Amino acid sequence: MSSKESSRCGSYEDYKETADWLLAHTEQRPKVAIICGSGLGSLADLLDNKTVFPYSDIPRFPSTTVPGHAGQLVFGRLQGCECVCMQGRFHFFEGYNMQTVTYPVRVFFLLGIETLIVTNAAGGLNGSFNVGDIMIIKDHINLPGFAGQNPLCGHNDDRFGVRFPCMSDAFDRELSALAKQTAEEERCGSFLKQGVYCMVAGPTFETIAECKVLQTLGADAVGMSTVPEVVVARHCGLRVLGLSLITNIVVTDYDSEEKANHEDTLRITNSRAQDLQRLVSNLIKKI
Ligand code: HPA
Repeated sequence: MSSKESSRCGSYEDYKETADWLLAHTEQRPKVAIICGSGLGSLADLLDNKTVFPYSDIPRFPSTTVPGHAGQLVFGRLQGCECVCMQGRFHFFEGYNMQTVTYPVRVFFLLGIETLIVTNAAGGLNGSFNVGDIMIIKDHINLPGFAGQNPLCGHNDDRFGVRFPCMSDAFDRELSALAKQTAEEERCGSFLKQGVYCMVAGPTFETIAECKVLQTLGADAVGMSTVPEVVVARHCGLRVLGLSLITNIVVTDYDSEEKANHEDTLRITNSRAQDLQRLVSNLIKKI
């Protein structure tokens, strides 16, 4: 086991060591953190006054392997508002356990972050969705959680939150309303949706039968991330806003020749990145 691997035990002292190191290496004290999804990391490029920490330089921080994910923590100001961006996140399908996937969120909490904005790329399950839509996440389905993969399984440290946290208020209604209002002001209203995000473990895209199951469950979009971070953020009391960019419409027809692939995800995120950036940066001003 590498030293990085063996260091991933996730005790309070580990998170504290990481947070204290960051606090000692930057004078910035952001209240907002943004986790940038696949192909959406360019948001961090918009920050002024940047301090950049490659994940590999940060004590006890995991590192990322997915193409389209830069792998660095960027502190800076977005439209005058101090924030920290994760350019590249950790996915369960990369082989990380749920505690490692969510490691940065507890570090954010110890840094004094109050609001978490999560973005992701997702497949559209709702028949009224189009490629390029931005979906405000109204609620989530923690499918890996149904199978015992919840980041809060195991010992509960009360310094982070309670043993049995509420999730019926996972996504902040006020922030969602603000996002909707901002999208309308920024001429994004015509492709703005609201709906339920379902996390699957990946890395396989869904079969046709699986897509039909997810639709029956009431999911509007499906992706391979976000839910673990949201669970851990809510556990420690952060307010959460979730935004999904619909990069493909899932296949539910056995005669279809369409095939989901990561290249399309990156192509669509590139073409909508500017709209999403405008939405997030104008929203941040209002938080
Ligand atoms: N399924 C799962 N994850 C995804 C998809 C999808 O169709 N599109 C983008 N991420």
